[in-house]
Amino acid sequence: MDFTLKHQAVNSEARAGLLQTGHGAIETPIFMPVGTAGSVKGIHKKDLKEDIGAQIILGNTYHLYLRPGMDIIERAGGLHKFNGWDGPILTDSGGYQVFSLGDIRKLTEEGARFQSHIDGSYHLFTPESVIDVQRKIGADIIMAFDECTPGDAEYSYAKKSLELTQRWLDRCVIQMDKTKPLYGHNQSLFPIIQGGVYPDLREAAAKHVTTIPSDGYAIGGLSVGEPEADMYAMIEVVNPILPKNKPRYLMGVGTPVNILEAIDRGVDMFDCVMPTRNGRNGMLFTQEGIINIRNKKWADDFSPVDPNGTSFVDHQYSRAFLRHLVISNEMLGAQIASQHNLAFYLWLVKEARRQILADNFKSWKEMMVKKLARRL
Ligand code: GUN
Repeated sequence: MDFTLKHQAVNSEARAGLLQTGHGAIETPIFMPVGTAGSVKGIHKKDLKEDIGAQIILGNTYHLYLRPGMDIIERAGGLHKFNGWDGPILTDSGGYQVFSLGDIRKLTEEGARFQSHIDGSYHLFTPESVIDVQRKIGADIIMAFDECTPGDAEYSYAKKSLELTQRWLDRCVIQMDKTKPLYGHNQSLFPIIQGGVYPDLREAAAKHVTTIPSDGYAIGGLSVGEPEADMYAMIEVVNPILPKNKPRYLMGVGTPVNILEAIDRGVDMFDCVMPTRNGRNGMLFTQEGIINIRNKKWADDFSPVDPNGTSFVDHQYSRAFLRHLVISNEMLGAQIASQHNLAFYLWLVKEARRQILADNFKSWKEMMVKKLARRL
């Protein structure tokens, strides 16, 4: 996997890059739509690629391992063959999903014991087993096994948690070296930086991961309940330590404003369920601000969903019709809103890249941040 830095913005840490994978190139900054169970909810792959402009999607080790299970994925020939997406795939390691299970999981030195949210059965994830699972899925980018430290963790907890994540990372690296790709394309391991909201822990974490030669580095444990200012401060601590010639991935973030602020601080890759999950609930992100399509004010607004939108759904349907669908729980409503939001997120990162290349990122970003947070 090869990353080329195409341009460094002026008066900003923002960068435009090109990441080559075994399933094609990715222009960064990039947003990765989330396909938890191997599908981006409600979106056909043709629309994902051609209408939305997705260049890479994300899958989840935890969900795919539980259902359909590794036997089926392996017999299909990996996730690319199983779901038909021929672009790059990144899989999260399960660290975050297991962390979300709360009471039904227990962390030990060995790994994480947890109960399935589907049938209550007991399972153990270890750094070794999640590498094996991600090998079988065939992800182009494999995430290390980590503990996502909660946003309100005290210093002593965050320190212990980070040290566990670091030992688990070392075991992931050994397992990667011991195993091989199963389907003929390369697979790269991205380490994850934890450390809570504590600058010295984040600094130590960033230094530790850079001792491991990797094709990219991730920043985890952010947007998990800590104040936004802390999130930005932590990005500012780690990014100057990370190598310039490798992509930086901020996990699970965030709102359009969060994404622009993180790009400004030198982040290249993002994923978040927000465009699809909030879309299903009727929240639309646009260049002019946020629309709650359930609001009565849209009931007789027969204008297009988003006159500036890049997706066909923005022009083929009206706000009034979309409101009717969402209020009536029609599945087409969730599909239109998800497709609109994903197309908007992909537009946002593409436009950010264009502005970086044109040496205009900073002033464009400041103008956008003001508009994006408005409620229409
Ligand atoms: N997704 C969002 N945050 C995290 C994190 O800290 N770790 C992992 N593995 N996935 C995430």
